[in-house]
Amino acid sequence: MKIAFQLSIHFGLLIFVSCYGGDGYDPLENALKIQLSKRLVPNHETNEYHSAEYSNSPVYMGPQDGLKDVDKISSLPGQPAGTDFDQYSGYVTIDPNHGRALFYYLAESPVNSSTNPLVLWLNGGPGCSSFGNGAMMELGPFRVNADNTTLSRNKYAWNNVANVLFLESPAGVGFSYSNTSSDYITGDMQTAKDSYTFLMNWLERFPEYKTRDFYITGESYAGHYVPQLAQLILQKNKITNQTVINLKGIALGNAYVDYETLKTGLYDYFWTHAIISDEIHEGIISNCNFSEGATITDACIDYQYQAYAAKSNIFFYDIYAPLCSPFNTSTPSISVFDPCTENYILGYLNTPYVQQALHAKPIKWESCSGLIGAHWKDMPLTVLPVIQNLMASGINVWIYRQVNIICAGDTDGRVSVTTSRYSINKLQTSVKVPWYPWMNQGEVGGYVVGYENLTFVTIRGAGHFVPSYQPGRALAFFTSFLKGKLPANH
Ligand SMILES: *[C@@H]1O[C@H](CO)[C@@H](O)[C@H](O)[C@H]1NC(C)=O
Ligand SMILES: *[C@@H]1O[C@H](CO)[C@@H](O)[C@H](O)[C@H]1NC(C)=O
Ligand SMILES: *[C@@H]1O[C@H](CO)[C@@H](O)[C@H](O)[C@H]1NC(C)=O
Ligand SMILES: *[C@@H]1O[C@H](CO)[C@@H](O)[C@H](O)[C@H]1NC(C)=O
Ligand SMILES: *[C@@H]1O[C@H](CO)[C@@H](O)[C@H](O)[C@H]1NC(C)=O
Ligand SMILES: *[C@@H]1O[C@H](CO)[C@@H](O)[C@H](O)[C@H]1NC(C)=O
Ligand SMILES: *[C@@H]1O[C@H](CO)[C@@H](O)[C@H](O)[C@H]1NC(C)=O
Repeated sequence: MKIAFQLSIHFGLLIFVSCYGGDGYDPLENALKIQLSKRLVPNHETNEYHSAEYSNSPVYMGPQDGLKDVDKISSLPGQPAGTDFDQYSGYVTIDPNHGRALFYYLAESPVNSSTNPLVLWLNGGPGCSSFGNGAMMELGPFRVNADNTTLSRNKYAWNNVANVLFLESPAGVGFSYSNTSSDYITGDMQTAKDSYTFLMNWLERFPEYKTRDFYITGESYAGHYVPQLAQLILQKNKITNQTVINLKGIALGNAYVDYETLKTGLYDYFWTHAIISDEIHEGIISNCNFSEGATITDACIDYQYQAYAAKSNIFFYDIYAPLCSPFNTSTPSISVFDPCTENYILGYLNTPYVQQALHAKPIKWESCSGLIGAHWKDMPLTVLPVIQNLMASGINVWIYRQVNIICAGDTDGRVSVTTSRYSINKLQTSVKVPWYPWMNQGEVGGYVVGYENLTFVTIRGAGHFVPSYQPGRALAFFTSFLKGKLPANH
């Protein structure tokens, strides 16, 4: 009751923004609502990623012969002339009995594709599409133009330096689906298992990638998906007599990894960015305890309500950005991210001949699925222990070159830079390379701290969707991440 009240107030404030799931839908807030309600139930389900039974369970392997050729995209409708890289998309069946299949899009590199690493990209939500958001809005090779029908090349696309695999995950998100509707009641654990099954089958379809350096990247709620999948891969690698995935590192962008730091970081960020008053901030500090097991008081709920009301109608995911207003259809200058991009993507991806070209089922495509988000079953309050395990796994068989928490967007209010810093403090790792500014094209791209087994990089002037707002800086960061080097200070 209380929770429903607390969270319902968070909706409806983004009326002019049809971004990320459309009119006021805030998938992460939705997830927090569920997480909070679980927390009040004693003995709530915990994630058994360590369970031997789970790790040892067999992985479904389906026939993949000839499917790579079927998945090759001859050309995306409206793509610019001179497209000089290969693209593939299609479905990988995860569970033939349920009829569950995950959709992927692979953008290979124009140059050195056969030696460049393979990078998996995951969007969060939970319930948001990695293809529509990740590929078409953030780091993929194309952006959809305002006509909803033509594409332009993103010169800072990440496939310039890696072969990038976008996975719509879990089933029910984007073009991914199941013929068994109960599969849409899912959660962290099923998502990790299905993603692993996907990878094992996909590598049979694309065997040339089997031994390739592999990285997992993602943002927002993928702060859960990425470490959980990485941990599962490391466990499976030890016992499998099938393909061993050559996992080299993970990168998390503006990631939700810990409930307490998300909340404390959020309100401290609001206060230090002049979004809420001293009184509201003070009210939150003195009335709220966001740590596990603490009681959430009425006063705390009320002050949070006040904070959201005080914030007013700004785009939470990039606090200084213009809104996509129905009353203003003029396109902003090209150096600024067009806040209406999400509408163009929605139009494009719901065009029947576009879906055909992508080998997708005819479907009403959505940026984020409210259905998936609303029924999320399991999400731990923190994945910091998983990240700690990954950090320490360095000398095991599968070497982590680095674990990166990019806080990226320092203008993101949703999962703020303050939250990322608090999360890293909780990890209690020691500083090896002290804070310094990193440079990109003669300007400060952001700041870096090298910790033991973890790197923290900020991307200056970027909101939640870092590669959308600061494409050049994001690509520079990503390039150094793949090289295993800290971003340069000159
Ligand atoms: C789902 O059902 C349709 C219709 O029967 C079928 O064509 C499709 O192959 C099924 N999907 C999977 C993944 O089995
Ligand atoms: C391709 O690989 C070669 C050899 O490693 C390297 O010299 C070249 O810079 C790479 N080109 C691109 C565009 O990455
Ligand atoms: C993998 O190992 C399991 C357990 O030893 C065995 O049952 C299975 O047949 C093996 N699979 C392959 C492909 O060798
Ligand atoms: C917050 O709650 C936790 C768990 O009940 C408790 O251990 C901690 O002392 C509380 N913090 C404060 C500042 O009261
Ligand atoms: C829309 O926004 C642009 C750029 O900010 C501005 O120049 C224009 O006057 C606005 N149009 C309307 C109808 O508000
Ligand atoms: C593009 O698609 C969006 C979402 O479906 C729609 O609102 C808009 O009118 C379309 N724009 C054009 C130019 O067709
Ligand atoms: C860093 O990795 C090394 C080697 O795996 C490990 O011994 C050490 O405990 C790790 N430190 C942290 C803080 O994760």
